Amino acid sequence: MAEVVIVPTADDAGALVADAIVEVIRGRADAVLGLATGSTPLPVYTALRAKLESVDVSQVRGFALDEYVGIDPAHPESYRSVITREVVEPLGLDPRRIQVPNGSLEGIEHAGPDYDAAIAAVGGVDLQILGIGTDGHIGFNEPGSSFASRTRVKTLTAQTREDNARFFDDIADVPMHCITQGLGTILEARHLVLLAFGEGKAQAVAGAVEGPVSAMLPGSAIQLHPHATVIIDEAAASRL
Ligand code: GLP
Repeated sequence: MAEVVIVPTADDAGALVADAIVEVIRGRADAVLGLATGSTPLPVYTALRAKLESVDVSQVRGFALDEYVGIDPAHPESYRSVITREVVEPLGLDPRRIQVPNGSLEGIEHAGPDYDAAIAAVGGVDLQILGIGTDGHIGFNEPGSSFASRTRVKTLTAQTREDNARFFDDIADVPMHCITQGLGTILEARHLVLLAFGEGKAQAVAGAVEGPVSAMLPGSAIQLHPHATVIIDEAAASRL
């Protein structure tokens, strides 16, 4: 059973998670952070700016959850660009130590296993930040994803493409495919921190925290994890 923390605002959640991350880095200079994109984790990255000023982050490593397939890495909405803009640059992390799955078509068949091997080679992720999609997806593991899945290419659902269309000029520009850490990969992180804010996430949160553990709601995989924390606002908690 995940620990559920209900906070007044997303900024309060950001501050809590930032404190937990600082603690991880103070305990281990070469901490491995699991980074997430989407709007939900942004308050964490904002809170970290001030909190990391007095912390040596030169050894910190990071692995993003996912990336679009076939998008130019230089496109402003590629997750490589988003992680660089929102996390690496403002926090002063070493870009060589921050990895994002390789979504380029060339060599895509090796990209998943290579990514899992890179995570394993540094001893796994210490703290994984997670958002959740309105359909209950984590990373880009859409409903029906196996709990044993590893990093691999997936097709985005129509719902997720619609949800993410706001980041692009036109829904037709939202890629059809993605490469995402699998649920099995994510479950290997030592601490999972799932964040959700707003009424629109209430159903997915209720399913993830209290619903049956089911591949039809990938977020429910957190119930299998020995150390999972769910930090949500009142609106996202409204169906618990
Ligand atoms: C995308 C990401 C997920 C994220 C989800 C929710 O699909 N791949 O990692 O959790 O969106 O996005 P948001 O936080 O913007 O609601």
